[in-house]
Amino acid sequence: MTLTVLSERDEVQVEPYRAPSSLDEALTGSPYVGYAYSYPHKTAYAPLAPPRPLREVWAKEPTDAIFLYAHIPFCEMRCGFCNLFTQVRPRDFDSLQDRYLDALSEQAARVLDAVEPQRAARFAVGGGTPTQLSAKQLERLYGIASRFGVDASTYTIIETSPDTATTDKLEILRGHGVNRVSMGVQSFDQAELAAAGRPTSVESGRAAIERIRAVGFPTLNLDLIYGIDGQTVASFLHSIEEALQYEPQELFLYPLYVRERTGLGRRARAWTDGRLEQYRAARARLLDAGYEQISMRFFRRRDAETPPGDYSCQADGMIGLGCGARSYTRSLHYSEEWAVGKNDVRGIIEQWIARDGTDFEFAWHGAEVPVAEQQRRFVIQSLLHREGLSLAAYTARFGTQAQEDVAELGELLSSPAVTRTGDTLSLTEAGLERSDAIGPYLYSKTTRGRSEAYTVR
Ligand SMILES: C[S@@+](CC[C@H](N)C(=O)[O-])C[C@H]1O[C@@H](n2cnc3c(N)ncnc32)[C@H](O)[C@@H]1O
Ligand code: SF4
Repeated sequence: MTLTVLSERDEVQVEPYRAPSSLDEALTGSPYVGYAYSYPHKTAYAPLAPPRPLREVWAKEPTDAIFLYAHIPFCEMRCGFCNLFTQVRPRDFDSLQDRYLDALSEQAARVLDAVEPQRAARFAVGGGTPTQLSAKQLERLYGIASRFGVDASTYTIIETSPDTATTDKLEILRGHGVNRVSMGVQSFDQAELAAAGRPTSVESGRAAIERIRAVGFPTLNLDLIYGIDGQTVASFLHSIEEALQYEPQELFLYPLYVRERTGLGRRARAWTDGRLEQYRAARARLLDAGYEQISMRFFRRRDAETPPGDYSCQADGMIGLGCGARSYTRSLHYSEEWAVGKNDVRGIIEQWIARDGTDFEFAWHGAEVPVAEQQRRFVIQSLLHREGLSLAAYTARFGTQAQEDVAELGELLSSPAVTRTGDTLSLTEAGLERSDAIGPYLYSKTTRGRSEAYTVR
């Protein structure tokens, strides 16, 4: 199965974060527990003692269809809702970004030597805001990626923001064969942007979309958020209509999570705040407008190009470059430590830049993923995706039965959330809208314990 992995940044998933302890709680409590797009979540990572040499970690891994990810942890300003690992415009921005790319280049050399990857099937640049880099720095980044064999045949994607998506940078991206550009618009209502703490204008978003269209990329994705203070079903539908005018190939609709240590973070909220109604109305409109739903957040136009199916997030590994990027093999997931607070983020980035070259040959922080956790990962990632969980594919991978390994599946199957067609289990409409509760419900005790005990810096 292939999933469109959009980027490998991670988010704290609290409001507050507590995985449902029963299926009943998952189906009747808050639908907004946590976005389970990666398992185990970064909040379950810990220092690896001793650090693990990458050469050993990757020795037995297939590397003919790697996902290469580069994390650019820089932004113009910190949005009120955002807790991603990013550094907001310090005084030495330009030289900091140059020093960052120096370290990233060194890391690339060490990783290439230790892992010896054969081929990158996909390349994603995320952040932060990758287009916060200057045009020259972006060129440099793609030069580094080319050392991993990233070329015109690689499916490549990048995230951008309205104020940084300038034509000169977009042309560089097009020149490097970028297939998909994803931009956060969040809302087409100025008052909602202000309420979300998004320091940009609707006009800026529109102008950026026009520039992206003018340069010409096969796939445009727009992110919208629902659940913003003051937003209603009608005003969210208005944003959807505005977005539809641009005929984006993809739309991501994110329920607003108010996270710790963010600008909005001090606001408490109840889950009966209208997000579910807004989601339902928007979903109905998008299905009517010719989009298909790939997962709770992800809608794709039926006539849009789909990414080539040569990368499988269930079987192939990911190599993350940069501070804050996550890497994984089947049995080890790793990244740097993560923080949200300005000084903590800066400290982690500076430590990473100051690394001795050989330090990049080790994984320092992460989570071992034993077979039982690999099985849960397989189940969670398949079930939350439109394609569903193929029991035969599961058995082919693990040699065992999914329902025996993950007991919660039996209970889910007898609920209105999951249906079985042939050998495939998939979420019903009622299950899909509760993806953010069903995912965490399927977490193992160990992983949920670690994530619940995690303190955000
Ligand atoms: C890396 S950002 C997008 C790229 C770019 N930095 C920008 O802001 O335009 C990824 C997306 O995640 C969504 N997001 C981030 N934090 C969120 C939150 N707390 N609640 C809901 N959506 C969130 C936003 O829609 C955002 O556009
Ligand atoms: S939403 Fe995007 S622009 Fe805003 S702080 Fe987060 S990564 Fe940066």
